[in-house]
Amino acid sequence: MNQEWKSHNINSLQNYYQGSIVSDYEARRATQASWHKEARVLDSFLEQLDLAPGTRVLDVPIGTGRFLETFMRRRFHVIGRDISADMVAVSRQRATALGQADADIALGDGTNIDLADNGVALVVSVRFLVHLELSIIDLILAELARVSSGHVIAHVRLEAPGRLNAMRRALDRTLRKLRRVSVKKVSNKAATVHRHEDVHALFKKHGLQVLRDEICNRTKKGHDSHLYLLQCT
Ligand SMILES: C[S@@+](CC[C@H](N)C(=O)[O-])C[C@H]1O[C@@H](n2cnc3c(N)ncnc32)[C@H](O)[C@@H]1O
Repeated sequence: MNQEWKSHNINSLQNYYQGSIVSDYEARRATQASWHKEARVLDSFLEQLDLAPGTRVLDVPIGTGRFLETFMRRRFHVIGRDISADMVAVSRQRATALGQADADIALGDGTNIDLADNGVALVVSVRFLVHLELSIIDLILAELARVSSGHVIAHVRLEAPGRLNAMRRALDRTLRKLRRVSVKKVSNKAATVHRHEDVHALFKKHGLQVLRDEICNRTKKGHDSHLYLLQCT
C-alpha cells in the first residue's frame, strides 16, 4: 500500500485507511502546521456558533477522532461516521478513554449518510473534500447539507489567487492532459484543487451560505486549503 495519498478517486480514498496507515496517522501529521491550524480554526468556529450542550454534531469522516475532546468539552452529542473499520475502532477507543463509551461512532459512508434530513445541527468534515474532485464534492456537499439543520464546516482545496499561480495551473492542466494520453492511471493532486467560483457555486447550489473562510495551509504550488463555516439556508 502507498504511504503517500495521491489519488483523487473516492474508491481509492475509501480503501486507503487501514492497518499502519491508521496506527501512524496522527504521528505522521503532528509536525504539520496545518494539522494544528485546522484544530484552532475549528475551535474558533465552534466558539462563534456557541451551540448548547447536547447539540447533535456529526463528524464525517471522523478518522481517529481528533476532535472528540473539543466536542466533548462542549458536551455535544457526538455522532461519528467513517468508511474505514480501523479508523472507527481508533475513534471509539478514544471516545471510551474520554469517558464516552456510548458515543455513536460507526461505519458510514459520507456519500450516503445514514441519518435523517436535518438530523443534526452541525456537520464537521475535515480532510475529506480536500482529497476529491469537484463532481464528488458536489455529491457529498448535498449529503452534508441534507443532514444538517444548521451549519456545515467543510474543508476544500482551492487555487490560490495571483498571476504566477495562474501560470502554474495552466502548466499543470497541460501536463495532466498529456499524462492522460500516456498513462492509464492518473495519480494527480491537481484534480483536487478547485477554482474559488466553482466551489462557491456548489455551496450556493446546496443552500450553504459562507459565514467564515479561513486558510489553513498554503503550498508553494499555489494550493490553499480552506476551512469554511457554512450556514444552511
Ligand atoms: C485524511 S482522513 C481525515 C480524517 C479526519 N476527518 C481528520 O481530519 O483527521 C480521511 C478519512 O476519510 C475516510 N473516508 C474515505 N472515504 C469515505 C467515505 N466515502 N465515507 C466516509 N469516510 C470516508 C477515510 O477512512 C479516512 O478516515
